Amino acid sequence: MQFEKKDILDMESLSADEINLILDTADKMKEISDRSIKKVPTLRGKTMVLFFYEPSTRTRLSFDIAAKRLSADSLSLSATASSTVKGETLVDTARNLEAMRPDVIVIRHPMAGAPHMIAKMVSTSVINAGDGMHAHPSQSLLDIMTVREKKGSLDGLRVAIIGDISHSRVARSNIAGFSKLGANVILSGPPTMIPKGIEALGASVVYNINDAISGADVVMMLRIQKERQKSFLFPSEREYARFYGLSADKLKNAKEDVLIMHPGPLNRGVEIAPDVADGPHSIILEQVTNGVAIRMAMFYLLSGGVRNADDN
Ligand code: CP
Repeated sequence: MQFEKKDILDMESLSADEINLILDTADKMKEISDRSIKKVPTLRGKTMVLFFYEPSTRTRLSFDIAAKRLSADSLSLSATASSTVKGETLVDTARNLEAMRPDVIVIRHPMAGAPHMIAKMVSTSVINAGDGMHAHPSQSLLDIMTVREKKGSLDGLRVAIIGDISHSRVARSNIAGFSKLGANVILSGPPTMIPKGIEALGASVVYNINDAISGADVVMMLRIQKERQKSFLFPSEREYARFYGLSADKLKNAKEDVLIMHPGPLNRGVEIAPDVADGPHSIILEQVTNGVAIRMAMFYLLSGGVRNADDN
């Protein structure tokens, strides 16, 4: 199967077959990172521009590493170090980036829909690396890859996503991605952090966290996104931790082989207790490892990769 899309902007616009193609390609790409020489010539001569209007550690670095592992040239720019600070608009910036003929533009932006707008304006492929509270498709793909690796399939899994659902682009992308591959997604958290009507996206809402965790195959904790909250949505971090933070005690309700996930960065001791984050069920760092393979696969498929990834 060929990947026909020009851009990867959200999980809603990917079919289950396209998601599986990205995952299968990432599975093949993954071993490149375990070699002593972590580089293949597959995308030599291609240019990837990473433009981040918001801070990032995992996403930005792993896109950069992914490009370099495939021998593409990768150039990374922050909004604060760009002509955005001199008043250049997003549209003008995108047109100027395109004029330099990159092969892929990766963009993170605080406004929902910014990557979609750019994708319509330029002929270059665009990857959404997170837009406001809307979507974070590469995070969802790496999350799905990590669960599929552990469980073999997502079909019928009970996946509990807990925390600040309102402000989470990861939650929105994972509701779409996990349910497309057959998982049952349960949302939980303080009522002030769960938008009314979110069930329409294909998830169910269970306000009691213990009920949400009960029988879960996967528990994904979300960070409280203070930078996006316009008002106080919970009384204090101590109370949040007590009622909604994942502790070893609350985890007793889950299945014995439950997987604990978190997209990062962690607020240790708030949404997740340190002993759970670092405990035997945690696959948080495996998510990060798989992030490189997923982003290699995204670059490869968008750059018109026609050879099998294991030809190198
Ligand atoms: N998960 C995630 O997007 O992390 P960063 O903000 O560090 O990229």
